[in-house]
Amino acid sequence: MTERPILRVRGLTRLYGRTVACRNVSFDLWPGEVLGVVGESGAGKTTLLKCLSAQVEPTDGTIEYDTRADGLVDVFALSEPARRMLLRTDWGIVHQNPRDGLHMGVSAGGNVGERLMAVGARHYGNIRSEVLDWLDRVEIDTGRIDDRPDTFSGGMQQRVQIARNLISRPRLLFLDEPTGGLDVSVQARLLDLLRQLVASTGVAAIVVTHDLGVVRLLAHRLMVMRGGEVVEHGLTDQVLDDPQHAYSQLLVSSILQV
Ligand SMILES: Nc1ncnc2c1ncn2[C@@H]1O[C@H](COP(=O)(O)OP(=O)(O)OP(=O)(O)O)[C@@H](O)[C@H]1O
Ligand SMILES: [Mg+2]
Repeated sequence: MTERPILRVRGLTRLYGRTVACRNVSFDLWPGEVLGVVGESGAGKTTLLKCLSAQVEPTDGTIEYDTRADGLVDVFALSEPARRMLLRTDWGIVHQNPRDGLHMGVSAGGNVGERLMAVGARHYGNIRSEVLDWLDRVEIDTGRIDDRPDTFSGGMQQRVQIARNLISRPRLLFLDEPTGGLDVSVQARLLDLLRQLVASTGVAAIVVTHDLGVVRLLAHRLMVMRGGEVVEHGLTDQVLDDPQHAYSQLLVSSILQV
């Protein structure tokens, strides 16, 4: 078996005018691994995630994805349709705001089932039964399959978004503040669910958050960003329990004091 990362990132930089949103970020992500990215507001986390998921073009640097058939391929050297295809089939993106990741005017079942159709499913009965199964896995009452997500609570919408992004068995999942904007008890349940799903599907994931509790639970490895740069990178427990960089120490201690 070839041992190669699913994602290889080198020297990734993105400027907005004179603002350096992220600078010189490099890492490898391995199959089945969860990488956490933390940092204060404006640190460049969302920009990094948008570049990695090919939604925003980097100013400099490379992002290579293991396409299986052709090995590591520069994501931005792919044609636009090929890149769109990756987004629909190999990758999943859970947006911080469910409105960015769901069709609010389409039923919950339609939102989830659409992903199965994108990977070739055609049999209506099979699609519906798999969608019911996934709604159940994310703890949505299956009786609401035909209801639109805009009639759901924020936590329910986030769970529909998660089902939609996992049903097609992606190889790589991008999560931006997956528990942002939810109250504490809903957050804890959702995190627990995400942890189970990530472990049982073996999907590789990058999770961006300002919440250290989220990465403590989900991430194997952790990158700490500040002012667009990675200031520390290591195993999650190592970084959280024994941070080396002064900024990581501040981040960890300020959270502990809350
Ligand atoms: N579309 C844009 N146009 C101009 N500047 C941008 C744009 N997107 C991000 N920036 C700038 O890039 C920097 C990093 O922003 P980014 O959204 O990546 O931070 P973040 O770490 O995700 O913050 P938050 O925790 O608040 O979500 C900020 O200075 C921001 O103002
Ligand atoms: Mg952000």
